[in-house]
Amino acid sequence: MSLTEQEKQLIEKSIERVADVAGDPASHVYARLFAQQPEMEAMFVLDTDGNVRGHMLSEALDCVFDFLGPRAYAPVLIQSELTNHSNLGVPPAVFATFFRVVMETFRELLGAEWTAETDAAWAKLLGEFDTTIAEHAERSGLALV
Ligand code: HEM
Repeated sequence: MSLTEQEKQLIEKSIERVADVAGDPASHVYARLFAQQPEMEAMFVLDTDGNVRGHMLSEALDCVFDFLGPRAYAPVLIQSELTNHSNLGVPPAVFATFFRVVMETFRELLGAEWTAETDAAWAKLLGEFDTTIAEHAERSGLALV
């Protein structure tokens, strides 16, 4: 079942609140990503000023907002980034983990503000990303892992 209006609002609100309490969450997101997948850190060595990491996170969040709204451009972006990332050495199954790392980081930053309803809404959204990514990977003939 697709996301309800209430679930969409909960996700939007959680992203707004992260900006309120933590400002730019990029350093937290990448610290968590590299703790979970240490082999991914070396891929960003050329990104000395953090611009690429910041841009990647903002594109991923734009995908989240597009998924909550018209779904006009995220599926296309995901399709092309799946191929780009696969060529970089990031297979689709790892690509998908980024959205989960973003959610886990936001959950940690919001502490007690993160309710069971917010958690359930994000879980549904992540399921939709997983499905989209798996479908696009198959269509492009990319090995999932
Ligand atoms: C754990 C998962 C991921 C890893 C390890 C990863 C890794 C990378 C790396 C190493 C680069 C730099 C490429 C270069 O040097 O040219 C990059 C760029 C980028 N990634 Fe990811 N990526 C992941 C997930 C995602 C996701 C889910 C999106 C969704 C939108 C995304 C969007 C982008 C974009 C737009 C860029 C270009 C940024 C720029 O050059 O300004 N990535 N990614």
